[in-house]
Amino acid sequence: MSEKAELILEGKSFQLPVVVGSENEKAIDITNLRQETGYITLDSGYKNTGATSSAITFLDGEEGILRYRGYPIEQLAERSNFLEVTYLLVKGELPTKEQLDAFAEKIKMHTLIHEDMKRFYEAYPTYAHPMGVVASITCSLSTFYPKSLNPNRSKDQVDLTITRLLAKFPTIAAWAYKNSVGHPVAYPKNSLGYVDNFLHMMFSLPSQEYEVDPVITSALDKLLILHADHEQNCSTSTVRIVGSSQANLYSSIASGCIALWGPLHGGANQAVIEMLDVIRNDGGDVMKFVAKAKDKDDPFRLMGFGHRVYKNFDPRARIIKKACDDVLNKLGIHDPVLDIAKKLEEVALNDEYFVERKLYPNVDFYSGIIYRALGIPVDMFTVMFALGRLPGWIAQWQEMIDHKEPIGRPRQIYTGATTRDYVNIAERG
Ligand code: CMC
Repeated sequence: MSEKAELILEGKSFQLPVVVGSENEKAIDITNLRQETGYITLDSGYKNTGATSSAITFLDGEEGILRYRGYPIEQLAERSNFLEVTYLLVKGELPTKEQLDAFAEKIKMHTLIHEDMKRFYEAYPTYAHPMGVVASITCSLSTFYPKSLNPNRSKDQVDLTITRLLAKFPTIAAWAYKNSVGHPVAYPKNSLGYVDNFLHMMFSLPSQEYEVDPVITSALDKLLILHADHEQNCSTSTVRIVGSSQANLYSSIASGCIALWGPLHGGANQAVIEMLDVIRNDGGDVMKFVAKAKDKDDPFRLMGFGHRVYKNFDPRARIIKKACDDVLNKLGIHDPVLDIAKKLEEVALNDEYFVERKLYPNVDFYSGIIYRALGIPVDMFTVMFALGRLPGWIAQWQEMIDHKEPIGRPRQIYTGATTRDYVNIAERG
């Protein structure tokens, strides 16, 4: 007999089914709770709420485990590449060589964005944050492909939209950067691989072509793999919930970009480097900032520290810390904020406040230092996160559609005024 949870409410017993996942994760299924009891559950920030069952990513925050489709993140970061991981996430299995080549070829055929879109970029001020531009342009793609708006979409149409998104997103992202520095855009070059093509569009100038550097390509590839999915986080849940209204995929992904932008989520990588620069410019007194982070009257937090689900080391942070050392060594760069970051980590990891709350460095703590070493400007950091997260968002959206999940619509406990009669303005005291 399958296990049940018993809930006793107002002296009456209710049996609730228990759901067990493939890694023995357990949930109490409350699908019929309100119907049967009149009660809802209250869980601000969804800290204990499973919004879906998913076969894409497994994460054990207590043990510091992250796997995409069963494959440990450490193995993927070491041995795979971003396009292969993209295939794995979106299609569910690792590709054969032929499948991967065909996938790469298909993406290459769609890297251009409509020439009219260049005018959109021209209309943004150069000081526009690239995340705002990227999200808007991604949403605008839907206006160029009206067939993608049909909620009764065919498989071919969905596949085409997915290919277009994967192909055009690097172009959209790189052009946002070009706009921000007032440089002419660089068109995609299909002789290059996915990551090199992106770097070419970022850094090629009419006067000087970007020269592929395997150290930079491999570092960026690794970072993108580490960001590729992270189960039901804020932006992914946003993509799923927006998509659940049958909004088109372009706008669902655009809403994921917006959710990611915030400094508590993907915006943390920018916030970390800004924080490290502040500490450095202030004289580098790490203890002072650790004290500020612990002070409840001070809004300052150690950016890049803490995570909703990791109560152990974020496995991505381990890989990134090592990659950070490797990249800086290989490129012969000495970034003084790396020393500050390491000191900060050491102090925080031995401080009772952080130990007690299980606050460890997260994926964003060291990634910014690598991005900076690769020549990527600070306000593009979150765009880089979005580029990495794109396949995860797509896979999660696809899964939500395949599961025929109902429209996302949480409930609430109302705490406002009870009914009262309207009073004409002249009669109000
Ligand atoms: N610095 C100082 N104190 C912290 C920090 C921090 N970075 N993070 C959490 N705390 C404290 C918090 O004040 C609270 O203390 P108390 O119990 O005394 O009230 C306790 O730790 C629990 O924090 P919380 O805010 O309730 O935890 P949460 O799960 O709601 O938030 C978080 C998780 C990531 C938003 C938070 O740790 C944070 O703000 N970190 C800094 C921002 C950051 O690095 N975000 C990137 C996350 S990784 C990338 C991604 O996947 O999005």
